[in-house]
Amino acid sequence: MRSGWVARSVLTTAVLVATSAFAADAIDPNALKRLVHQDCGSCHGLSLKGGLGPDLRSETLEHYDPEVLTGVILDGIPDTAMPPWRPLITEEEAEWIARYLLEQEAQ
Ligand code: HEC
Repeated sequence: MRSGWVARSVLTTAVLVATSAFAADAIDPNALKRLVHQDCGSCHGLSLKGGLGPDLRSETLEHYDPEVLTGVILDGIPDTAMPPWRPLITEEEAEWIARYLLEQEAQ
């Protein structure tokens, strides 16, 4: 019983390591969309129309360069509730999210 549990947790750890190694070099658009709508959405609204944080729809963000927007996502906005995402996502993922936000169809 107990040794079965240990074997299973070792297996789970191996799977987690394999998954994060994969995530380091591959963009997973579905995972990133989920992150945008759930995690960003927890402040910016599930449909990104604004909540605690401002509206993130493309027409509101069109004054941003993709590079500047990527920087806002990676480093957050100091002295506000907008957190830095650098600890959680790669620069490539932040850039993907910036382009995703800028290219969304007007809703
Ligand atoms: C804990 C709440 C919170 C979360 C989670 C959050 N934000 Fe924000 N965000 C804010 C707040 C508050 C502001 C407004 C800061 C200010 O007063 O300038 C903001 C501002 C922004 C801005 C600037 C908007 C503009 O019009 O200039 C962008 C872009 C942005 N957030 C993107 C994101 C993205 C992308 C995510 C998810 C990866 C995210 N945010 C997650 C709270 C949050």
